[in-house]
Amino acid sequence: MKRIKVRTGKEYDVLIGGGLLADAGELIAKARPGRRAVIVTDSNVGGYYGDQLAESLSRSGFETATFVFTAGEENKNARTLFDILGFIADCRLTREDLVIALGGGVTGDMAGLAAAIYMRGIDYVQVPTSILAAVDSSVGGKTAIDLPQGKNLAGAFHQPALVIIDTEVFGTLPMRDYCSGFAEIIKYGMIEDPQILEQIKDLGEYSSAIQQELEELISRCVEIKADVVAEDEFEGGKRRLLNFGHTVGHAVEKATNYRLYHGEAVAIGMMRMTQAAERAGRCDAGASGKLEQALKIFGLPTGKDSNQANLPDKDALMENIAMDKKSTDDGIYVVIPERIGKCAIEKMSMARLEEFL
Ligand code: GLY
Repeated sequence: MKRIKVRTGKEYDVLIGGGLLADAGELIAKARPGRRAVIVTDSNVGGYYGDQLAESLSRSGFETATFVFTAGEENKNARTLFDILGFIADCRLTREDLVIALGGGVTGDMAGLAAAIYMRGIDYVQVPTSILAAVDSSVGGKTAIDLPQGKNLAGAFHQPALVIIDTEVFGTLPMRDYCSGFAEIIKYGMIEDPQILEQIKDLGEYSSAIQQELEELISRCVEIKADVVAEDEFEGGKRRLLNFGHTVGHAVEKATNYRLYHGEAVAIGMMRMTQAAERAGRCDAGASGKLEQALKIFGLPTGKDSNQANLPDKDALMENIAMDKKSTDDGIYVVIPERIGKCAIEKMSMARLEEFL
C-alpha cells in the first residue's frame, strides 16, 4: 500500500493499493475514529461495493446507514444534495461522525458538499471507485453540485479526512468509464510529467496483469495533485493548471447535455487548447499529435473524429464558457500548453479566447 500525504490546511493521507476496500473500516477508524458513518453511493456502485464497505465499517465498530441515489451527472443537483442532507439528519449524525463517499466523481463531489455544509461542516472520507475520481476529484477538497446554468457552480472547498483508493475495484468499471478516467491521467502528463504518456501505452484495457502499473501511475498522479494543492489550496494560482482542458471541456459537457462523459469532454478540451497553442506558435510543434496518440489508446474523442458534427458550434461553446465558474468580468484563466509536461496559466478576455480557439 502506498501512502501519500496531502499537506493542505488540514492534512490527510491518500492510501493506494489493491484490495483496500476490505480493510476500509479499520483504515478509517485509525485515521478518524467515530461512532456513526453514512455511506453515500449511487445505484451502480452501491450494488457492487456498498455491502462490503458497510460490513468492514461495522467490524470496526461503526454504526452505518447507506444513502443510494440514481447514478448520473444529471442527478448531481440541489434536489439530490438536499435528499442526502435530510438522510444524514435523520441518521442523527453529529460533528463526531462521518460521511463516506463511495463512488465516482459525482458521488464524491456531492457527498463532500453535503459534509461541508451539514452542521457547518463534518468530516468525510473519499473512497473513489472510478479512475477519474481516484486521480482527480477525490483529492484536493473541491466539492460541488451542478446548477441548470452550469457545472459545479455551487460548492465549497472541504478537504476529506482520508482517501482510500482500492485499485482492484477498477476491474468492474465499464470500458467507457475506464477509458474516460485516462483523460485526467493524460492531463498530468501534459502539465507536469511527460513520462506519464509513456507509462500509459499498455494500459488501453483493464486486466489484473496491469494492477501494479496502474497503482504506480495513480500514485504518481496523486503525488502531482497533492503537491499542487498543498501549494495553492484555494486555486489562486498554480492549482489552475489542473484545469487544463476543462474550460472547453466543461462547456462541451454542458452544451451536449452531459452526453459526453467528463473525461471525454476534457480530452476534446485538451486537444483544442493544444492545437490552438501550436497554431499561435506558443507550443512545441508536434505536441497535439502526441496528445492525440495518447488519447487514441483509450478511444477518447479528439474533436477531429467523425462524430464531431455532434459537438457544439462556436457560439454555443463560447456561451457555455462564459458561464464557467472560473470566468470573471474581464476574462477567464486558461491553461496553455508550451510543450508536453509544461503549461502556462493566462487570463484571456472572451474575445481573445474565441480568437485563440
Ligand atoms: N479538478 C481540479 C482541481 O481539483 O483543482
